[in-house]
Amino acid sequence: MATILSEPETASASPFSMRPLAKGFAVQVDGLDLSKRVDPDTAAGLRQALADHKVLVFRNQDLDSDALIAVAEQFGRIFPGKRKSAVPLKDLLARLEGNVGKDGKPNGRLYDSWGLRWHSDVSWSDHPGVATMLHSIMLPDAGGHTEFADMQASFDALTPDQQAELERMSATHNFWCVRAFRHGMILPWARHPAGGLHNISLKEHLFQWLRVVVHSLTFKAPKHRAVMVHPVTGRKSVYLGHHAWRILGLPWPKGISLVNRLNRRTMASTEVYRHEWKVGDLVIWDNQSLLHRLMPFDTRNQPRQMRRLVVILDKKGVLTT
Ligand SMILES: [Fe+2]
Repeated sequence: MATILSEPETASASPFSMRPLAKGFAVQVDGLDLSKRVDPDTAAGLRQALADHKVLVFRNQDLDSDALIAVAEQFGRIFPGKRKSAVPLKDLLARLEGNVGKDGKPNGRLYDSWGLRWHSDVSWSDHPGVATMLHSIMLPDAGGHTEFADMQASFDALTPDQQAELERMSATHNFWCVRAFRHGMILPWARHPAGGLHNISLKEHLFQWLRVVVHSLTFKAPKHRAVMVHPVTGRKSVYLGHHAWRILGLPWPKGISLVNRLNRRTMASTEVYRHEWKVGDLVIWDNQSLLHRLMPFDTRNQPRQMRRLVVILDKKGVLTT
């Protein structure tokens, strides 16, 4: 377990110190300028800190894509997403996300309104997100915070019987099916969780539904155990959230209602840290022990732009049953 330091560092000690931000997890890391490459010992210290504290907050970081990629590479392989020929690789790896249009103004849209529900990044892949990095560039005057829920604390709070029930369970995670069928998020008439209708054209709606159909027919959703054993700390956490689509061995309606019940139960017993962003914040979080969600904001009138990277597991099947 990393020590949270309360005194300024000496020259021979670790170059960073940490102070707690919430009960039991989430720390602010002071003393590092991440625009400069960190040495291997510091990188190892940050990896351990992430495993121990789950959320690392770095303030006042002036970082371009190259610097963010260099930091992310200290944690693992970066999720590449789908490449369009016109997009430079570094902009694909360190992707700009938000509701800021090409004219620099808010456009009423979120890159992914799904982020408003509790989830673990890229759990719908055979290469689930290990860590996510988010660097704030433009922020709304109100809202747009990110909340983190400690799913290790949530597992610890369950009774032994409840823990055993979860440990016997596996779920498939399916982003597009969940989005389309479970919550109707991309129906043209669906209301955006942040308020109002989704601000996308009929053509885009049709394109999204085409993706859902193609995805349903061709995609083999990954199976993950409902209890994740953290590869560094060995601690157990509840690994469901709103990407979970089917429970193995149960008919879909029964499974999805069980997922809903388990999500409600685990979220009721967990600790939550709300990060209220400042421009220049870099937050790195551990997707293997947390769920997170974006809080709503006025997407039509307020800009929110972040640069985001997701570090994934390198080995296919590490988390699958
Ligand atoms: Fe996310």
